[in-house]
Amino acid sequence: MVPDPNAVLPATFLAAVRESAGERADAALAGFHGERLRSFRANTLKGRCGDLVKELREAGVVFAPHALSDWSFTLSAEAEVVLKATPAYAEGRLYSQGLASQLPALVAPLRSGDRVLDACAAPGGKAALLAMRLGEGGDGLTACDRAPGRYGILCHTLKLMGATKARPLLCDARTPPPAISGRAWDHILVDAPCTGTGTVRVEVPRTWEHLHIDYEAYVLSRARIQVALIERAAALLAPGGTLVYSTCSMDPRENEAVVRHLLALRAPLEPVDLSPWGKRFPTASGPGVAAFRGTEYGEFTKACLRLWPNHEHEGFFVAMVRRKR
Ligand SMILES: C[S@@+](CC[C@H](N)C(=O)[O-])C[C@H]1O[C@@H](n2cnc3c(N)ncnc32)[C@H](O)[C@@H]1O
Repeated sequence: MVPDPNAVLPATFLAAVRESAGERADAALAGFHGERLRSFRANTLKGRCGDLVKELREAGVVFAPHALSDWSFTLSAEAEVVLKATPAYAEGRLYSQGLASQLPALVAPLRSGDRVLDACAAPGGKAALLAMRLGEGGDGLTACDRAPGRYGILCHTLKLMGATKARPLLCDARTPPPAISGRAWDHILVDAPCTGTGTVRVEVPRTWEHLHIDYEAYVLSRARIQVALIERAAALLAPGGTLVYSTCSMDPRENEAVVRHLLALRAPLEPVDLSPWGKRFPTASGPGVAAFRGTEYGEFTKACLRLWPNHEHEGFFVAMVRRKR
């Protein structure tokens, strides 16, 4: 029997979702339970997408293309078991990755030769996608993380996915070493540590058990780290460079409030409109939350993209700013 969300999820968390989702609240809360489609993407650093599709179909994997990108596909949980037994999976010719999780690595315009920094990169799913978009083994990409155990997984992911020219680095992105702070970056991704509330599924206790502490204090402690990360990253942008900020949290204090803080610094930054990407998720996407608990965030929220959790993807927030030339 599916547990009642009101019985298992902390009231403070449910209240924050209801307040931020407004008229979407019932749909958003419904998105916290039920089976979710699985997804993967092709890895063109290790072969052509068309060849992979043919090979997987011949191996009996049932999957469907998704509008997110030419490399994105969805499949059932049963089909994913078959997928994970294929040589293509073991050899890193594809990567099992949620649709929402692919988005932050897709929205920025990248050109080969760009210098790209993934500031919170482990276990490496988005870094490997950035590397693929750069081509040439991910030449130009630096991917850092401060957690030693997770850093090991990041190195493994980059290697397996053929991002042999990407540079992994073990460091705290709030106090980066000269290899990062000594240059300007054309593109930076801050896929920040967060409360992870977009990934909640009531049937899976490990996705919400950690919220049964002081939820409010937890959100605010994450927000402090997020603000420090985004501020530091913004200072490293080259003129014309883009910074993507993303979380898998539903809470505006980890999302719109963090971006608002950044834009209020009077740095030469302007929001970039991500609403066209919402068309690729027509049923459960929308702009950022405009106001929360008496704070009006501002016009920029229209340029942000929120994915509300549903049968296809987790809850996610993505924003992009550009440094003016
Ligand atoms: C949401 S996860 C990143 C997921 C990753 N982008 C991916 O797609 O595979 C956040 C990561 O930030 C790292 N992190 C937390 N604080 C950090 C800091 N100050 N500097 C660098 N990395 C940090 C965590 O260790 C964690 O691996």
